[in-house]
Amino acid sequence: MTDRYGVIGHPIAHSKSPVIHQQFAHQTRQDVSYEAIDIAPDVLTETLDSLIYDGFKGLNVTVPHKNATFDLMDELSERAQCAGAVNTISVEGEGRLVGDNTDGIGLIRDLKRNLGISIRDAHILILGAGGATRGIVPTLLDAGPHRILIANRTAARAEDLAEEFAADASQPEDIAACQFDELEDHSFDLIINATSAGLNGEVPPFPISILRPEVVCYDLSYAMTTTPFIKWAREHGAEQTHQGWGMLVEQAAESFWVWRAVRPETAPILAHLP
Ligand code: ATR
Repeated sequence: MTDRYGVIGHPIAHSKSPVIHQQFAHQTRQDVSYEAIDIAPDVLTETLDSLIYDGFKGLNVTVPHKNATFDLMDELSERAQCAGAVNTISVEGEGRLVGDNTDGIGLIRDLKRNLGISIRDAHILILGAGGATRGIVPTLLDAGPHRILIANRTAARAEDLAEEFAADASQPEDIAACQFDELEDHSFDLIINATSAGLNGEVPPFPISILRPEVVCYDLSYAMTTTPFIKWAREHGAEQTHQGWGMLVEQAAESFWVWRAVRPETAPILAHLP
């Protein structure tokens, strides 16, 4: 019998996850289906229950449910606990829910394997201090950067995150926080945009002095056209810019592995994305 999987979010109609997972299934000859399921936040708990009742074996979780699902799990992987969010649910036995998070490893695989970017000893700037930042910081710290600086419009959020993750860093000074206007005199190897400003077509007032031709600019967001952050970075001289398509595909591949214990090839899918 075909095993059912899907992605839950709101809105979800434009999700590329069904196409990606269907290609993984075809490539690995796994008998699985994968669908996009729209769940409004106020009915998350009961809809999740009914999906489990309907026999779903696993679900990906996207905006805005990554934090709310965290509290609904029976068990959490270490990755989910560190990130404080769930993007992959496995339904085990009689409906026991195990929450995992494959976002961080998805980003690292895209940076290292697909793009050949070294994290070790890198000076990294993360713009934004919300759920997306929380999801990637633990895995980035594990990869041994020189330093991670988190800059955010609301300084207190960045400070809280940096303080929380300093406990996990090999040296507490490996991670620090500041506001955008304090970035003026800093230079970085890698800048990651983890704000959601681009969803409204906006680019926050990041100082253009952070951009040099050799800095790698990576937007966790992705779009069929160029995202506002990537457009801004290119216009101000950044030569290496990447949207988060690769992370999307790599986190999907890791979820597929969690569910099926089979690793799909990501390169054929990446070759067809913008
Ligand atoms: P996500 O899960 O996508 O990270 P979130 O937790 O709501 O969503 O966080 C959104 C991030 O984008 C925050 O860092 C937010 O900054 P604040 O903490 O100051 O709210 C940032 N953000 C969103 N819109 C922004 C804008 N127009 N200018 C600057 N930062 C913005």
